Amino acid sequence: MISKFKGRDVISVNDFSRDEIDFILDYSSLFELKKEGVEELMKNKIMLPAFFENSSRTTLSFDVAMRRLGGQVSDFDPERSSRGKGESLWDTAITINNYSFDVVVVRERRDGVARLFADIIEAPVINAGDGINEHPTQTFLDLYTIKKKIGRIDGLEIAIVGDLKYGRTVHSLANALKKYKDCKVYFISPQETKLTESFVNQLKEDKLNFEELDIKNLEDILGKIDAIYMTRVQRERFPEGVEGEFQYKKVISQYCLTKDMLDRAKLRKNFIILHPRPRRQELPKSLDNTPYSAYIKEQEKAGLYVRMGLINLIAGDKFLC
Ligand code: NCD
Repeated sequence: MISKFKGRDVISVNDFSRDEIDFILDYSSLFELKKEGVEELMKNKIMLPAFFENSSRTTLSFDVAMRRLGGQVSDFDPERSSRGKGESLWDTAITINNYSFDVVVVRERRDGVARLFADIIEAPVINAGDGINEHPTQTFLDLYTIKKKIGRIDGLEIAIVGDLKYGRTVHSLANALKKYKDCKVYFISPQETKLTESFVNQLKEDKLNFEELDIKNLEDILGKIDAIYMTRVQRERFPEGVEGEFQYKKVISQYCLTKDMLDRAKLRKNFIILHPRPRRQELPKSLDNTPYSAYIKEQEKAGLYVRMGLINLIAGDKFLC
């Protein structure tokens, strides 16, 4: 299986089969076990993180992942790059290609930029979020966390809540769950941030078992699910100006999870709360110390392991066994 990953771009979850995703998760778990020899795996290799949009967790975990594997990380800063002089992304990608990085990680505010980079750059390109489209490595870490905390992905019943229209992590996660057996997904969102019609049609075509729920209170669903995946309403992707501000204010507090709700609900045994972060009021700090808060530690740690695993698989020559 290892040889199937060499040189591959990671642009969409749809580019990977279920078996390949399972392999990525299993291989990544070796890095959690801290096997010997890890720091030699990517020696003399250089990663370029090209983040044209804000990021904390994704940048940091990619950075640490590459360094822990013995590789180097370029400190390219898009804010200070020639993009500020009006250079096109196309030209920036051509330059990146000429310097022969071993792996390139890209985040940009427009859908499709990761694919454009992958077309121009010979090295494997990892999509770290392209506009509202996809964020595949976030999904790998979400699945890793689910598997670890709940023990399986097949048969998972999950509510995905918040900004389903603009949330790229939601799109990648839904695309992945289609590949597993007997999953049930409840989508819960304000009217303004529902999944688009075309995405819903695609999910139907791909036979995901899902419902778009129109409930007033998250309490109504908590007892029926194994996990709740909360997301932030993405202010920066709303239309600009007064209209956008109005829409945003209307939806921002509509679905918030509270400690009282959890206390009152009859939760399933291994119930967990997931969130890709950053969070706003949808996930108050008072939930951080509950036994359900997988978003505090497990998800972020998983981000490191899956990125170590993935970088190694697509851009390495030596592997753990
Ligand atoms: C997400 C993203 O950038 O899509 N964050 C992340 O990478 N963990 C979610 C968000 O910005 O709300």
